[in-house]
Amino acid sequence: MTLLHFPHGFLWGTATSSHQVEGDDANTDWWAFERVPGNIHDGSNADRACEWWRGRAEEDLDRAAELGTNAIRISLSWARLEPEDGRFDHASFDRYRQLLAHARARGLSPCVTLHHFTLPRWLVRDGGLLGKKLVPRFARFCARAGTELGAHVERWVTINEPNVLAFMSYFGKAWPPARGSAIDGGRALVALARMHAAGYGALKEATPETPVGLVLNVPDFVAARDNAVDRAAAKAQDAAFTGWWLSALRDGWLRPPLAMPPRHVARFAKSSDFLGVNYYGRYRVRFDPRSGATLFGRAETDRSIRTAHNDWGDVAPDGLTRQLRRVHHALGVPLVVTENGVMDAEDSLRRSYLVSHVRAVHEAIAKGADVRGYFVWSLLDNFEWAEGFEARFGLFALDPLTQIRTKRPSADLYAEICRHNGVTT
Ligand code: GAL
Repeated sequence: MTLLHFPHGFLWGTATSSHQVEGDDANTDWWAFERVPGNIHDGSNADRACEWWRGRAEEDLDRAAELGTNAIRISLSWARLEPEDGRFDHASFDRYRQLLAHARARGLSPCVTLHHFTLPRWLVRDGGLLGKKLVPRFARFCARAGTELGAHVERWVTINEPNVLAFMSYFGKAWPPARGSAIDGGRALVALARMHAAGYGALKEATPETPVGLVLNVPDFVAARDNAVDRAAAKAQDAAFTGWWLSALRDGWLRPPLAMPPRHVARFAKSSDFLGVNYYGRYRVRFDPRSGATLFGRAETDRSIRTAHNDWGDVAPDGLTRQLRRVHHALGVPLVVTENGVMDAEDSLRRSYLVSHVRAVHEAIAKGADVRGYFVWSLLDNFEWAEGFEARFGLFALDPLTQIRTKRPSADLYAEICRHNGVTT
């Protein structure tokens, strides 16, 4: 048994997002969506979530610190900080400042996301991602957050998984505003790219020294069978989901058929000081002439990690190595694994999942990828979007009714990895 060492200063963290843990986030589009019966599969909502806004953030940050992690990923609720167009809420900025100061005092380097799926309701009334003033408004929010909180932030993320958001909310109907339209999906993608470029500029102006990045979800799409049609279907899905963003980050061009007509976004090329890679698993794609909406590919799901509704793919650590190397070659910027984890209430899979994926990151580094950190999704069970509390990703289990937290065995294993700055072979 040898220890695979990580570079000095490697970030070992856990990841969360505002709406999923804070509670009392009533000014968001999700709050309204959660009230409609059937939208959240277990009938729950994020009214309390993990009660971070009622004061439990600090104790959870302490839990993260006690594991020996040295970084934490959180996000800001735009709806909370700007409850009305142009009116910023000082008390909410103060609360985030407190929380970030606490994290730093406990040795956790804060990585802060500005947009993690939710939007203010006032902005949605004005068209949401498809509204005319979206981009300058997001830039204004980023500028303000940069000025107010920049002193406490060590890494910014403009937008979390724009690729997932566009597919769940605009191409599809699973998340608000549930448009289910290919045209709106394409428009949402263009809007998200423009938002990122504007947000990047605003944050760099406010805090020039702080790295700013974009986070993409980068699954491993492979052909289900060894034949040309499955290969083409897998390639098409990968291109729509991941390749489109990588090529745009290289040259600033948003390409057809997702962007019609093709469009160049000013300052989008090279607008990521690092790229955040969220990785869960592999989709084996089979050609299916009836699946036009998903580019004639259908994921086979028999061995995958899924609930009745959502599917995070097959457990495939080598896919993470592959994707990190691919993004490294495509962009040549430092990488951070900003999310990796598994839905596993019993904690029977999680330990082997974490060990194998941390080894996979090590292999990517050994083969030349410049990976600077790894964040487990998630610190504790939280409001898992349309899954409600059904999908449990936490190193700590949460009972949403009693709010009791219980450490899962995989938390101790992760603590060992952090303590050794490495993992055994
Ligand atoms: C990601 C998302 C997180 C979390 C995770 C697990 O797509 O960024 O908020 O929900 O998946 O499903």
